Amino acid sequence: MKMINFGSLNVDYVYKVPHVIVRGETLSATDRNIFPGGKGLNQSVALSRAGLEVYHAGCIGKGGEILLQVLRDAGVNTDFVRCLDDIPVGHTIIQNTDDGDNCIILFGGANQAVTEKQVDQTLCHFEQGDWIVLQNEINNLKYIIEKAHETGMTIVLNPSPMNEKINDLPLEYVDYFFVNEIEAGQITGYPSDDAEKLMEGLGSIFPEAHTILTLGSAGSVYIYKGEIIRKSIYKVKAVDTTAAGDTFTGYFLASVIGGRTPEEALDLAARASAVTVSRPGAAPSIPVMDEVVNCRF
Ligand code: RIB
Repeated sequence: MKMINFGSLNVDYVYKVPHVIVRGETLSATDRNIFPGGKGLNQSVALSRAGLEVYHAGCIGKGGEILLQVLRDAGVNTDFVRCLDDIPVGHTIIQNTDDGDNCIILFGGANQAVTEKQVDQTLCHFEQGDWIVLQNEINNLKYIIEKAHETGMTIVLNPSPMNEKINDLPLEYVDYFFVNEIEAGQITGYPSDDAEKLMEGLGSIFPEAHTILTLGSAGSVYIYKGEIIRKSIYKVKAVDTTAAGDTFTGYFLASVIGGRTPEEALDLAARASAVTVSRPGAAPSIPVMDEVVNCRF
C-alpha cells in the first residue's frame, strides 16, 4: 500500500499581533517569522513523522525552494513535486495573537498550477488499494478525485479552506472526510455550535464515508455508519494553532493505516495536535511519534 498527498505548499509569513485586525485599522506587529506550511505540506510532514511512508505531489513556485528540502528532511518522497520558476510560491499572511489564535490570508500561487498532465503522470505510479490525501488549496481537485477513483484508491478529503469549489466535486467517491465544526455547518446547514446536529447531518449526507469532525476545544468525533466515537482534547497552553488540524489529520490516518482502531487513532491525533498547538509555526511545530507517545499533559 502506498500513500500520496496531492496538496499545497506555502511559505507562511506569521505576524504576532495583540489582536486580529479589524476593518480600517492599522496594527503594528510585535514580531514576524517565516515558516514552511500549506495544508498539503503540513499533512505530509505529519504523516511521515507519525511513521508512514508518504509521497507528496504538488507545485512549488519561485521563492519556495526551501519547501522541497523541508519535505525531504521530514522523510517525505518528493518525486512528484514540480518546481516552477515562472509563478510565485503559494504563501500566506498569518496573524497570530497572544492566546495562540490565528487568521490567515492565502495566496495560491503555484498551488493553482496543477495540470491534468501532472495528475496523470503522478497517479499512473499508484494502484488499487493505495491511498490519496487531498485538501482544498490546489486546483484540478475534481480531476484528481475522478482519476483516483478510477484507479481504485482510498480517497481522503479535508475540504479546507471551504468554498464553492467543494460543491462541484464528486464527494460520493470520498472515503474519509476531515472537517471542523465550521465546515460541517456549511456542509450540513446546521449551526456550527450544535455538535449533535452536525454529526447527524454528516452521517446522513456521507452515509458510506468515515467522517472525522473536529470541534476545537470540545474535542473530536469519528462517525461511520451509525457508529460514533468521541474524544476530548489534551489541554495545553496555546502558542500557535496553525497546523493543528493538519497534524490531527496526518496522525489519525497514519494510525488507522498502521492498524490502530479509530478510537486509538483519535487519541494519538489529539495528543499530536496538542503538541503542535504548544509550539510556533506550521510544519516545524509537528511532533514525531516518540514525542507524541511520551508527552505528559
Ligand atoms: O492549516 C494550516 C496551513 O493553512 C498553514 O500552514 C497555511 O499555509 C495555510 O495553508
